[in-house]
Amino acid sequence: MYFKQFLDERCGCASYLIASRQSHEAAVVDPSIDTDQYDELLRDRGFRLKYVIDTHVHADHVSGTRALAARHGAELCLHESAAVAYPFRGLKDGEELPLGQLRLRILHTPGHRSELISILVINPPRSPEPSMVLTGDSLLVGDVGRPDFGGGDATSQYESVARLLQLADWVAVFPGHFEGPCGKGMCGRPSTTIGFERRYNPLLRLGRPEFISTLAGGVPARPLNMVAIEATNRGREDAAWAMLTSLPPVEEAGIEALDGLRADAVLLDVREPEEYAYGHVPGAVNLPQAELSTRLAEVPRDRPVFVICESGMRSLRSTQFLRQMGYDHVTNVRGGTAAWRKSGQRVDMAERREKPRVVESEWTHAGGTTAPAGG
Ligand SMILES: [Fe+2]
Repeated sequence: MYFKQFLDERCGCASYLIASRQSHEAAVVDPSIDTDQYDELLRDRGFRLKYVIDTHVHADHVSGTRALAARHGAELCLHESAAVAYPFRGLKDGEELPLGQLRLRILHTPGHRSELISILVINPPRSPEPSMVLTGDSLLVGDVGRPDFGGGDATSQYESVARLLQLADWVAVFPGHFEGPCGKGMCGRPSTTIGFERRYNPLLRLGRPEFISTLAGGVPARPLNMVAIEATNRGREDAAWAMLTSLPPVEEAGIEALDGLRADAVLLDVREPEEYAYGHVPGAVNLPQAELSTRLAEVPRDRPVFVICESGMRSLRSTQFLRQMGYDHVTNVRGGTAAWRKSGQRVDMAERREKPRVVESEWTHAGGTTAPAGG
């Protein structure tokens, strides 16, 4: 067999190419929009693409499945329950896809999303048992996928992960993410084993009620442009441009710049509404990063725009996206609302407010090297 993991530093996503070296048939799992990398490998190795599989409808990156399937005449596969507006082969729990001598066995493991599947890789000439499992956003390294996206829930995640833990200790685990916003405590390694996670994954030592309350109790902010990206992956919109694909240099300013803002300047707070309600810099307008591309018309192009979040990273990404969209007068506020609060300045709060559920994790913002982690 042939197996290769591709890591995308921009969104912390992992994708995979699995092939039979006997039949030269190949499958790609969770491809990114940068499909050239798979094309090149298929060409160099003389593989023929038979299946392109998304483990679930992604919310944090635009999937390359449709482009790849169309270009190679491959079958586009998702779990049979996936709600998408284009034709696909609906996979069932327990079904096996033949790939030369290999077998890809589908396990329905909902929780992060209701349609999420894991894929067991079996190589019968070597062993009747699976040696590896691609887990999408069910079991992650040191973590499990967040359950709060549409259709996900913590109880199913508990049951799905319990099902995966029935596999033998030696089974290698290849997740859909090594960092990024789909979990809150990923360790950063790109793979693990069932045995290691059974023993050392902090969530898997919890009983059912504690697992569920921990998972539901705190989640990272929704990813940048999630609304448009998800609609694109469902085939309901065509907004691949909503992916941040460049990392343009941006203007940055400290919180002291907010004291003397020009009267026509806009201060854009890209945190979640619950965070904004719990305390924001006076005068800031809330536009969560998940909705930025869908509500771009609300961001004026002809006035200076200052972008702020909790500690400067989400706003950096949003500022870069605005630059990518041709905005000239955008500035990231370094240190964010946390720095503003710390300096003893007043924050405005909404009358109706609850302590935000949003948690920051060191790895939430994949590939962020130009500003401090978190935010
Ligand atoms: Fe995901």
